[in-house]
Amino acid sequence: MKNSQIKIFCPATIANISCGFDVLGVALDSVGDEMIVKKVPQKGIFITKITGQNLPLETSKNVAGVAGTALLKASDYTGGFEIEIHKHIKPGSGIGSSAASSAGAVWAMNHLLGNPFNTTELVQFAMEGERLASEVAHADNVAPALFGGFTLVRSYAPLDIIDIPSPSELFATIIHPQIEVKTSDSRKILKTKISMATGIKQWGNVGGLIAGLFKEDYDLIGRSLVDHIVEPIRSILIPGFEGVKKASLDAGALGCGISGSGPSIFTFSKGRETAYKVGEAMKGVYQKIGIDYDVHVSKINIKGIKEIRKRTEDR
Ligand code: HSE
Repeated sequence: MKNSQIKIFCPATIANISCGFDVLGVALDSVGDEMIVKKVPQKGIFITKITGQNLPLETSKNVAGVAGTALLKASDYTGGFEIEIHKHIKPGSGIGSSAASSAGAVWAMNHLLGNPFNTTELVQFAMEGERLASEVAHADNVAPALFGGFTLVRSYAPLDIIDIPSPSELFATIIHPQIEVKTSDSRKILKTKISMATGIKQWGNVGGLIAGLFKEDYDLIGRSLVDHIVEPIRSILIPGFEGVKKASLDAGALGCGISGSGPSIFTFSKGRETAYKVGEAMKGVYQKIGIDYDVHVSKINIKGIKEIRKRTEDR
């Protein structure tokens, strides 16, 4: 049985992180999917089981199937893989549901083949899953899922991913109001041109955020969590966004923004206690409006996808 099957945890991720549309992302620890991937002699990718969500089993319509097929095409392995997906991340929630499945499939397959591909190559394969899910092969969710921690896509062509250190006391709080926003729809409403003045403000913040992460300067991280380009447009799709932002900052969050393409809203805090306090403040806003929600508090997952060897609680 050894080496022919693996069970993995595939983390949820926050993409964009306010100022870094399509280039910045971070992996979470407290929420993610589980997958079981098994080598089989028949050539091809076979999705044998999906629990938790009603998603297609057909390989060409499933993001794990498509990402896995991309890896298989590039590999000289003549067999195939069976994949079971246990979804805990809701599609359309803004915390990287399609990325978890795409990245998980290629990570597990690569592991079972003896790691013939490097992590950047795995990102490239997983991006094919993202292309199926959102019509654009963005890497800002799959890169942190595969590398762990914070990642920067410095360039898409050629693909150049930089992993960025994670300050040890940084915690994320995410609230997912129970509405669905499709990434493909929330990309269509964005402007395709920005002014020089806006660009200057935005890249100042991207640089500030990266410097803050390297220097473990929590204040600088907070000051840099500002998005002049995407948030003003997309926040219109998220009821209660401004209220959640204000409540979280008042409760001590370093900063607050839209997670990926929404509707989830993320905050970063220094310390677990503040992160939970911020979560309570965020909940209060949706309780008043009368929208159901899920809340996740998580430390930064610096490993990304992980093998599950024992009980899930031991992760
Ligand atoms: N960068 C992508 C977007 C992330 O904002 O459309 C989607 O999760």
